[in-house]
Amino acid sequence: MTHTSPRQRVPDSCAFVIFGVTGDLTHRLVIPSLYNLAATDLLPEQFCVVGIARKGTSSDALRDSLMKGLRRFATRPVDEAVARRLLECVTAVEADAKDAPSFDFLRKRLDELEAARGTSGNRLFYLATPPIAFAPIARQLGRTGLLKEENGAWRRLVVEKPFGTDLASARALNSELLKIAGEHQIYRIDHYLGKETVQNILVLRFANGMFEPIWNRNHIDHVQITVAEKLDVEHRGSFYDSTGALRDMVPNHLFQLLSLVAMEPPARFDAHAVRTEKAEALAAIQPQSVADALNNSVRAQYLAGQIGDKAIPDYRRTKDVAPESTTETYVALKLAIDNWRWAGVPFYLRTGKALAAKRSEVAIKFKQAPLAMFSCTPVDRLSQNYLVIGIEPTEGIELQFNAKVPGPTISIDGVEMTFHYRDYFKAEPSTGYETLIYDCMIGDNILFQRADGVEAGWQAVEPFLDAWKQAGAQGLKTYRAGSEGPADANELLKRDRRSWRKIC
Ligand code: BG6
Repeated sequence: MTHTSPRQRVPDSCAFVIFGVTGDLTHRLVIPSLYNLAATDLLPEQFCVVGIARKGTSSDALRDSLMKGLRRFATRPVDEAVARRLLECVTAVEADAKDAPSFDFLRKRLDELEAARGTSGNRLFYLATPPIAFAPIARQLGRTGLLKEENGAWRRLVVEKPFGTDLASARALNSELLKIAGEHQIYRIDHYLGKETVQNILVLRFANGMFEPIWNRNHIDHVQITVAEKLDVEHRGSFYDSTGALRDMVPNHLFQLLSLVAMEPPARFDAHAVRTEKAEALAAIQPQSVADALNNSVRAQYLAGQIGDKAIPDYRRTKDVAPESTTETYVALKLAIDNWRWAGVPFYLRTGKALAAKRSEVAIKFKQAPLAMFSCTPVDRLSQNYLVIGIEPTEGIELQFNAKVPGPTISIDGVEMTFHYRDYFKAEPSTGYETLIYDCMIGDNILFQRADGVEAGWQAVEPFLDAWKQAGAQGLKTYRAGSEGPADANELLKRDRRSWRKIC
């Protein structure tokens, strides 16, 4: 995390090794982020990028393809000189986890490149591959000793999401990785932690004296976490149909938000303390029986509809989606956190594709003030008090409270006090990944998930996965693409005499 120091330190010299270098993630996010770091002088002088490519890919061809990607996905105008300097550092090396000797060759090539570039043996291995390749690559890195930290050089492994598909597979992957590297060497990425407002939840809560005293069940009525997307499943049918909204978004992105909101104050602003408190918050999510899980969840699939000028087909008619698919594209959950701070405060979570708008926010709803004082006035209701942490479409914080309407009689209306990041801080547009990549290079893993945090997340969603598996198509709802989601999601809150905030 970019702490408070105005001048950031430049990372140590290192080799940045990318598995999956020809893929979408590398072109869309990794290289544009490295470019942004290069443009702000935050890459070391001695630096090289080693792209693990298929047979026959030349370094020139790889550089061309990365340059095209950069032109397309850069978040700021591309300075040709900076881009050229970065891409000159790129070398393609052939290696395949199914072919063990190719990793022995990789080891040799890395030694040569490091000697030529003076990168001092520090290495970062970035797994930007489909998840099925994580364990086989890690095994080869372990076998060849490429992750062994020696002679003062560090070795780090960056693992993309999804980290497992359920508790058992996440545990198996963690144990596989921990056989070949120490926890301090493993960086499990969740790109939500690269977002400024998400990081700001910690600062908002713990760098201000006024929120923490009321951040508990005495004052908070409930919490709503929303990640609504306008985007439909598009060309990702094959990945999405075997994943669904719950696995794709909840144990990772939504739980990052939940744990930052729910955690106890860490003793120090360091990776150990922060990650311990986050994992504790997730571990305190109350387990649910099958019946409770069904009662406290809504899953739904979108039907054809219109979003702007885009006609969206039924989810089941999307390419690579099974015609009878029961995969959910929307999920709403009611969770309870069973500890002294949160007992009795429901956490409502929802996320879905092909909705009316893109909106991500955490809304904290405070308890209603007593109305009795106004019984002799025309006031018959008070607006709700919300503190809203907005992530999309605008990053900021909004406080909603009641104010007197000017005039001779007592009349009250809800008003808003708003802080927008863009009004206060001038920042170049970023991918959100550069903070994370920079942190890996300086060895700060505060914004990365630790094994226990990942497992606590899967543990909390497991009852829903199990209950839905048993129920099959029964209970799966639908909603129109371009709507606010299924009507049943409203019922989930209505029965508690509450309601969702509007998405748009
Ligand atoms: C990804 C999911 O992790 O996050 C996608 O796989 C989703 O399905 C994306 O669209 C949402 O990220 P953001 O930053 O656009 O909210």
